Amino acid sequence: MNVLRNSTYQRLETHKIAGALGAEVEGVDLSQELDDETLAEIRSALLDNCVIFFRNQSLTPDQQLAFARRWGEIHFHPFMEGMKSHPEILEIVKTPTEKKNFGGSWHTDQMFSPQPAMGTMLYAKQVPSAGGDTMFTNQYLAYESLSDGMKRMIADLRTVCVGDHFKGHGGKSRKEIHAANQSSMRVKDPGDVQTTSVHPLVRTHPETGRKLLYIGGHVQSFDGMTDAESEPLIEFLMKHSVRPEFTCRFRWETGSLAFWDNRCVQHFAINDYPAETRIMHRITVCGDTPF
Ligand code: SIN
Repeated sequence: MNVLRNSTYQRLETHKIAGALGAEVEGVDLSQELDDETLAEIRSALLDNCVIFFRNQSLTPDQQLAFARRWGEIHFHPFMEGMKSHPEILEIVKTPTEKKNFGGSWHTDQMFSPQPAMGTMLYAKQVPSAGGDTMFTNQYLAYESLSDGMKRMIADLRTVCVGDHFKGHGGKSRKEIHAANQSSMRVKDPGDVQTTSVHPLVRTHPETGRKLLYIGGHVQSFDGMTDAESEPLIEFLMKHSVRPEFTCRFRWETGSLAFWDNRCVQHFAINDYPAETRIMHRITVCGDTPF
């Protein structure tokens, strides 16, 4: 295997899995309480690679939560019920009888919230014998590769992002979709949690200071524009933002944990394992207001 090595870290080693983004991290046992230096190097690896992967981890829900809490407050999904024993953890399940999967379109987590998730940690409990990979795309590259004219045109646009009834799902509600699929996952009423938000289309990453294209499946229109005016540009930018050369694809094994930076990455869960079961434990960490 042709592996690019990066040896700038003292406590861990990273191996890039694609040119655009994504690196496997070695030398860290996430079940242990990590010292501040190791945590700082994991943060650097995340900022350098946008998504990082740890293999062969053996984590209880409490241990995964303890690692997640080192990054900030835990974000609760407003529409999806967490585990009974650990409401902070969303168990993503697809069984052989279910047709649809969760996360099967390009998106960035909780973009419909006023303060979308900073990061997501997804831990593989059970994976199909083949398939069920997750793809990621680098939104710095998506922005940087636009022409100067397009950058000027979109500089001040703001997106209207919704948490339910997506156009991409034919306007159906999450409840209708999960019921039709006889899904193992439970949908809840968000109550008075805000689930429609307006964000800058060109976002500045709060830690790296780099500009990026902040777009995903929750975007329905541009603020102050009609649907008919918004849709052609959204369609172009969505297609552009997931060009193959901006992406990587991760092959899961039981015990793998992916940690991605939602502020600069979209992801897509591939639904290609019809007769098998896939079970993942997902925790999202709260983020800040995009600017
Ligand atoms: C998600 O969108 O968070 C799910 C990703 C996956 O299951 O691979």
